[in-house]
Amino acid sequence: MDDDVVLAAPLFAAIDTEAAHALLGSMKRVPLPRGRAIFGEGEPGDRLYVIGSGKVKLGRRSIDGRENLLAVLGPAEMFGELSLFDPGPRTATASAVSDAVLYELGHADLIAWLEEHPAVAKHLLEALARRLRRTNEALADLVFSDVPGRVAKALLDLSRRFGEPIEDGLRVAHDLTQEELAQLVGASRETVNKALADFAGRGWVRREGRAIVLLDVARLERRAR
Ligand code: CMP
Repeated sequence: MDDDVVLAAPLFAAIDTEAAHALLGSMKRVPLPRGRAIFGEGEPGDRLYVIGSGKVKLGRRSIDGRENLLAVLGPAEMFGELSLFDPGPRTATASAVSDAVLYELGHADLIAWLEEHPAVAKHLLEALARRLRRTNEALADLVFSDVPGRVAKALLDLSRRFGEPIEDGLRVAHDLTQEELAQLVGASRETVNKALADFAGRGWVRREGRAIVLLDVARLERRAR
């Protein structure tokens, strides 16, 4: 059951267990198979989602069809709140990169919940502020960092969400294709591949299909600076 994971989301922070379970019980459970989108960029939106299990990518497409990933989110993270707090079209397409289970909350229920538990608003603001901080950093990196630096940073960021310690390092099962990893870094697949091959050659990482093992986090951190 994903309950405990979902209850770690900011939506339930600082709330007694009974009330938190009541809200969770009122949310619709939505299984989302790998590759499927829950909504598309530009569509009207009136509900937010908390991830119970799996991974969800948020992507935008340019007029000429190129894709860019804003983020890859995992369990207990929330998305779809922007078009609730600032009514307007969805700012990105959300799709599952691995089989996922989402919990859906509609606008009216969210407003009622916030009126009943104003302290939750503070935690939602914190989550939004964190996201803005990350986005600012990513923006600065696009201007100031080279591709290997951005790759190192993306790997470290993914490891904080999805990393699991193993004998010789930190295994990050990101479930992203090479193309998606490149879209997350904001560079071509070839350049990202070259950076990964270089990191592997230096013994900093080991590639394992849609996972990567970080063998030398300290070096990667230095490269990401
Ligand atoms: P919404 O615009 O309703 O739908 C797309 C969602 O993607 C959006 O709400 C946010 O929850 C999420 N999102 C948009 N931009 C970012 C970002 N820069 N980082 C992480 N998540 C984002």
